[in-house]
Amino acid sequence: MPLLPTATVTPARRLCGRLRVPGDKSIAHRYALLAALAQGRSTVRAFAPGADCRSTLACLEGLGVEVEEGPEGTVNIMGRGFGQLRSPASPLNAGNSGTTMRLLAGVLAGHPFATTLVGDPSLSRRPMRRVMAPLERMGARIDATDGHPPLTIHGARLHGIVHEPDTPSAQVKSAVLLAGVHAEGTTSVAEPAATRDHTERALTAFGGLVGIDGLTVSVTGGQRLQGQTLAVPGDFSSAAFWLVAAAGLPGSRIVVEDVGVNPTRTALLDVLRRFGARVDVQVTATEAGEPRGIVSVEGDRTGTLDIAPEEVPGLIDELPAIAALAAHGGQVTVRGAAELRVKESDRIAALVAGFRALGLDADEHPDGFTVRGPHGSASRRPSGGIADARGDHRMAMAFAIAALAAEQPSTIDGADVVGISYPGFFETLERLVAGVDGPGAP
Ligand code: S3P
Repeated sequence: MPLLPTATVTPARRLCGRLRVPGDKSIAHRYALLAALAQGRSTVRAFAPGADCRSTLACLEGLGVEVEEGPEGTVNIMGRGFGQLRSPASPLNAGNSGTTMRLLAGVLAGHPFATTLVGDPSLSRRPMRRVMAPLERMGARIDATDGHPPLTIHGARLHGIVHEPDTPSAQVKSAVLLAGVHAEGTTSVAEPAATRDHTERALTAFGGLVGIDGLTVSVTGGQRLQGQTLAVPGDFSSAAFWLVAAAGLPGSRIVVEDVGVNPTRTALLDVLRRFGARVDVQVTATEAGEPRGIVSVEGDRTGTLDIAPEEVPGLIDELPAIAALAAHGGQVTVRGAAELRVKESDRIAALVAGFRALGLDADEHPDGFTVRGPHGSASRRPSGGIADARGDHRMAMAFAIAALAAEQPSTIDGADVVGISYPGFFETLERLVAGVDGPGAP
């Protein structure tokens, strides 16, 4: 179904259903990149259908990698081996995807040619020094405009380093590790706090060696990876919007099947328990080191949530969804999340503006926000209104979940941006409001 630039969201009393969500965006990027660097053919099933992972595939094709798409989200990738990507004929376009640009920068740092990486206006505003600095210390040279894209990466012979980033970031860790497998000696990243560990798990699944000691991850150059057959689990960060909606609307029950439940991604579940929801998780399998399972959430009551700075790295992509909980009653305060200002949009400013437009009371803090929902009289609901997604997929989905609590139908402007990570989001929303089970129902 074509994505429309605006979406209307009608208020709902509850959400019910059993569903699957699109393949995990973070994991799909990594499988595509590692498949390109491995020896031989890889088959990746349930590849993430959103535009971001398409950008990674298109960039790899520009680097001489043969990519063949099969039915039902299967992608075959012919690996070229470490250091064997080809100099591209023109700049590579990472679109809206920070993960594509930053991880590819790490890979290209170890290839002996120059590549220019460009992005859309949102990506062109995002900070790149965080990857440029360690990659330059390893021996590459990178040109940028005041630390922003376009990036021109002049690859070189790299040597291992120990990198201690100031801010926890899985993208930075991954970029340095992907350069590290092209480098001489050992490269280590010592993180200030744990971030998603998909790169570490995926490298191991492709036959690589990864050392982990507390918050320090190390790789050594001179390894070989072997092509694999893998399946991407459902994206927990996409499921998060339904789990939050179920928690916010008492009487709801949502069951998400075959979703990734890697513990570096699921901190939201404890937040929902704190909010008063009933949460159940069953791990059904572990493939390529990634656990997957069935997650169910039943809404019961609403509460007040304070998200502390130390919780932020584990919730970074779920904070917009968590903010939407306030629309359903209670209050959500987030601190220590200044990183939200440099995501696909300034998510602190965008969330506060969008929630206010929907009739909620919301305040910006330099490093977070407070959103106050209806409280006191049980009948008070936000008015509803017109919220602007500001070109950010997670804003569009957060506003849609908040709008379910409103008195009147709401409009999400720029709603088609959900195609970045979740092309069928609004159709699924309609189905769950109607209480119909979808694909994934046994
Ligand atoms: C991602 C890491 C996170 C996250 C982003 C995806 C990844 O970014 O917000 O959506 O796939 O590594 P940071 O590394 O900038 O925190």
